[in-house]
Amino acid sequence: MSDQGPRTAISLTGHSRLVGLFGWPVEHSISPPMHNAAFSALGMDWCYVPFAVPPECLPDAVRGVRALGLAGVNATVPHKQALLSLVDALTTEAQAIGAVNTLLLGEQTVGHNTDAAGFMRALRETGFAPESRHVLMLGAGGAARAVGYALLTAGATLTILNRTEERAAALAQDLKTVVAGAIVEAGSLEPGVLSAHAHQADLVVNTTVVGMSPHSAGCPWPVGVPYPAGVPLFDLIYTPPETRLMALARQSGAHATNGLTMLVHQGAEAFRLWTGVEPPVDIMLQACLHALGRS
Ligand code: ATR
Repeated sequence: MSDQGPRTAISLTGHSRLVGLFGWPVEHSISPPMHNAAFSALGMDWCYVPFAVPPECLPDAVRGVRALGLAGVNATVPHKQALLSLVDALTTEAQAIGAVNTLLLGEQTVGHNTDAAGFMRALRETGFAPESRHVLMLGAGGAARAVGYALLTAGATLTILNRTEERAAALAQDLKTVVAGAIVEAGSLEPGVLSAHAHQADLVVNTTVVGMSPHSAGCPWPVGVPYPAGVPLFDLIYTPPETRLMALARQSGAHATNGLTMLVHQGAEAFRLWTGVEPPVDIMLQACLHALGRS
């Protein structure tokens, strides 16, 4: 987004605490306005800064934020895996998911993953309780790893379908290894396979990038396969606000949610970790909507 809304003057003091975001690129992130709106609303002397960190500079960047005394940073593409080996300790979630999206900088540098918890909070907000429910997850990339872990640890069972079937099988195997007793199956996104699984689902989650702007004409649901009537959809994509898959689900009478609330809740979890303060989630959501030009 080139226009992220009006910029407010930030008055830093000698006591100001800094947090930020490591990404490459980082220009389009809406995390800075989201977190800075929260700090501002709570009158906190904190500031969230975007850092465009080339991959080869990531070890120096971690040393740098430690040396400068930042409270923590978020990490986005392409740094989430590389950070695993650059921290002193990992949380159970970060280790199981194999990705770090938040660093908590203290005596030790601890790698956290707030994507799983953020997804689960956003999902529960829709009214869906995942315990003992069956979820059909489309995609087997990085986002799928966090979502799959969140669903299985909450007691759901899972079918993972992916364009590249081997990747779905590998993710299913990995998730079974990290979540004791997990029931997970895997397959391809071929129409016949999808048709066979669609009607067993209590929830569909799209973790693929298909349908994301600027390729919003795309849809991961193959043409000719009916969407299972009334089965709720959680699409991790939030640009556009309604993907073609969401429209398909809504036409079937299902409730469809985009991924913006997951983004907000993963940020809110990081905010809690860094500050120890309860984040103003509604204000963070409003700041995101404003940054996306939707308010
Ligand atoms: P992320 O970290 O956002 O999950 P990723 O790891 O690159 O990104 O994963 C992208 C996901 O979108 C994968 O499941 C990918 O399927 P493949 O494993 O087959 O590549 C899926 N994806 C990307 N383009 C796709 C397409 N045109 N059709 C179907 N799935 C696609």
